[in-house]
Amino acid sequence: MAIIPMRTLLDHAAENDYGVAAFNVNNMEQIQSIMMAAVETESPVIVQASRGARSYSQDNYLRHLMLAAAELNPQIPMAMHQDHGNSPATCMSAVEMGFTSVMMDGSLEEDGKTPASWDYNVRVTQEVVKAAHARGVTVEAELGCLGGIEDGQGAGLSEEEAQEHLTDPEEAGRFVELTGCDALAVAIGTSHGAYKFKKKPTGQVLRMDVIREIHKRMPNCHMVMHGSSSVPEELVAIINEYGGKMPETYGVPVEDIQEGIRHGVRKINVDTDNRLAITGAIRKAFMDDPSEFDPRYYLKPARVAMAEVCKARMIAFGQAGRAPGVEMKTLDDLKKYYAM
Ligand code: G3H
Ligand code: 13P
Ligand code: ZN
Repeated sequence: MAIIPMRTLLDHAAENDYGVAAFNVNNMEQIQSIMMAAVETESPVIVQASRGARSYSQDNYLRHLMLAAAELNPQIPMAMHQDHGNSPATCMSAVEMGFTSVMMDGSLEEDGKTPASWDYNVRVTQEVVKAAHARGVTVEAELGCLGGIEDGQGAGLSEEEAQEHLTDPEEAGRFVELTGCDALAVAIGTSHGAYKFKKKPTGQVLRMDVIREIHKRMPNCHMVMHGSSSVPEELVAIINEYGGKMPETYGVPVEDIQEGIRHGVRKINVDTDNRLAITGAIRKAFMDDPSEFDPRYYLKPARVAMAEVCKARMIAFGQAGRAPGVEMKTLDDLKKYYAM
């Protein structure tokens, strides 16, 4: 079994100057796509589930899908991560389920909408760090707020409003010191979903300088980029060609993510690009043969389309070829590390 603590993976990525994509999963086909890409490129992986994913697929189904992925692919180091935990209770229920990493997103209050105070964020993050580290589980925290909303989670900030909630590099240093979190999600002007920027982003709206500054102050801090789908034009075009209606939109260019990786970004969250790939492939399959009604007919190309996106990101972020080098540590190993 190769389900390892996320911290081990982030440390290895930092030592070897690469980043790891964290792909969201909701069902069997998505896990299969990630593993197909990981096996083909020999990549370690972070598989993450949002609260919405956990309730959609039900915890037990999800847990066993992840266990199946690990059992079938023992050579692939895999971290199981709770994406955007809204409370210590959510995070600890993920730990109970066997997740090796949790995100305590205290940048928002428990309702997942209201930007939270500094004191609240520090308090809930400290609480999760204490409980999770006692079990060897990794903790990601967030400072600053992203734009948009996903599954009811998010302050619903517009592109412009998100600029007022960027991570402050000086506060980031104090926050990491006070909480002892393993990784810090930073707000740099991105948002979740497909509608991030109205035109190709410049440094004025996609604030890579915030990342460079945090890295300068804290070279050992593992940073996380959320809302990092690139929203490729060609995937949107496929959706629109086959009956979809998506307006022109721009995501985070892969070159900017690569620059982030050169400055301390170790985990890159990607969900929307996979959603686009799946939807385009299914729309095409429906139009290609309207007489078909076997779900396997359209889910197979959807799975391949998502695997192609995962593969491209794994190669671009530098995690390809890294699986054999990652030590298969256990939660017990990390428990001892945190206790030191
Ligand atoms: O957190 C962002 C991911 O895209 C998850 O979205 O909450 O709709 O599952 P979701
Ligand atoms: P995207 O919507 O850009 O894929 O971001 C996903 C994310 O940040 C999940 O936490
Ligand atoms: Zn996110």
